[in-house]
Amino acid sequence: MRVLVTGGAGFIGSHFVKYALQVHPDWHVTNLDKLSYAGNLDNLTDLADPARHQFVKGDIADHELVTRLWSHGVDIVVNFAAETHVDRSILWADDFIKTDVLGAFTLLEAARQFGVNKFIQVSTDEVYGSIASGSFTEESPLNPRNPYSASKAGADRLAYAYFTTHNVPVTITRCSNNFGPNQYPEKFIPLFITNAIEGKPLPLYGDGRNIRDWIYAEDHCAAIDFLITHGKTGETYNIAGGNEVENIEIARAIVRKLGKPESLIQLVKDRPGHDRRYSLDAGKLAALGWRPNRDFPAALDATIDWYVQNESWWRKIKSGEFKKYYAAQYGSRL
Ligand code: NAD
Ligand code: DAU
Repeated sequence: MRVLVTGGAGFIGSHFVKYALQVHPDWHVTNLDKLSYAGNLDNLTDLADPARHQFVKGDIADHELVTRLWSHGVDIVVNFAAETHVDRSILWADDFIKTDVLGAFTLLEAARQFGVNKFIQVSTDEVYGSIASGSFTEESPLNPRNPYSASKAGADRLAYAYFTTHNVPVTITRCSNNFGPNQYPEKFIPLFITNAIEGKPLPLYGDGRNIRDWIYAEDHCAAIDFLITHGKTGETYNIAGGNEVENIEIARAIVRKLGKPESLIQLVKDRPGHDRRYSLDAGKLAALGWRPNRDFPAALDATIDWYVQNESWWRKIKSGEFKKYYAAQYGSRL
């Protein structure tokens, strides 16, 4: 099976590449990744069978390159490649439109022209926007409220349009917040873990009571793999961890586990347009027979341990481009 994974040097994409090589001995994975600030070859050092993995540095919006890759044949596409950090989309939105929308368009066009058996568009629960009570189903209206989620909603609906209009065999996944090893330390959980290790303040937005539903990245990858086989073409599936937690609780759990004082947690000026709560109804996926299996407190503990044991991985990142972003994002807040 010839599988094109895009964004496979990022957080979830690299977990997917590792997972796929391990569970599918017949898969040959081409990993197309631009190596943006978030792409990192250090995420791909422990592959089960490196001979079945080919890394290609390049942009999913590069029509010529994508066409060239397709000339060898592609059976399955899993499109993870995206600009993914909400705070960056508030500061600098243009790359979000280029990659998340135009990049997805380029891949869908190639799939239309040259064919594919399965096209997984990795979307996100953020496309639904915020919900005060209850949970979003796949039929809920989309209401993205920041440039990141709006760009993802554009790709999500474009993928659907390529199914309805051109019969491209698309399946769309909308997953809740991921955490685990190798997550770029701009995101909430790894930022708070690494700042706490460094004895730096943990900048908690607003009143700290926003709610996210957390899923371990490996569970997300297992769900996508399951949907490649069991998901219906033209359908959308929510993927949820079932762990809705207020941010402040997670911040407290991190400092407690690391033996740091709670005074490190500082309430700072809120994110503009900050979604209050995400919540998914994942009944459609459960009805097919898939559920996540990682317990949240245990997985959070394991994640904290990973960052403690892999300081060189995140210190390299934090001493690079990250510094410029951190100053722009938190300079006036902390
Ligand atoms: P990430 O930012 O860690 O990784 C993104 C990867 O995409 C990087 O390796 C980067 O180099 C690559 N990339 C960026 N622009 C590219 C381009 N133009 N061409 C090729 N490669 C490019 O992101 P992540 O958190 O691993 O998210 C992966 C996917 O999952 C995204 O589509 C995201 O929207 C979706 N998602 C993420 C979460 C989450 O909680 N992190 C939840 C649901 C869905
Ligand atoms: O829900 C899925 C989405 O989850 C993905 O599609 C996105 O790619 C991913 O980045 C994530 O978006 P969030 O905005 O929910 O994640 P983030 O880690 O940025 O923030 C999680 C929560 O923590 C959110 O309520 C904002 C808060 N936060 C975040 C940061 C970075 C803080 O309080 N302080 C911070 O410094």
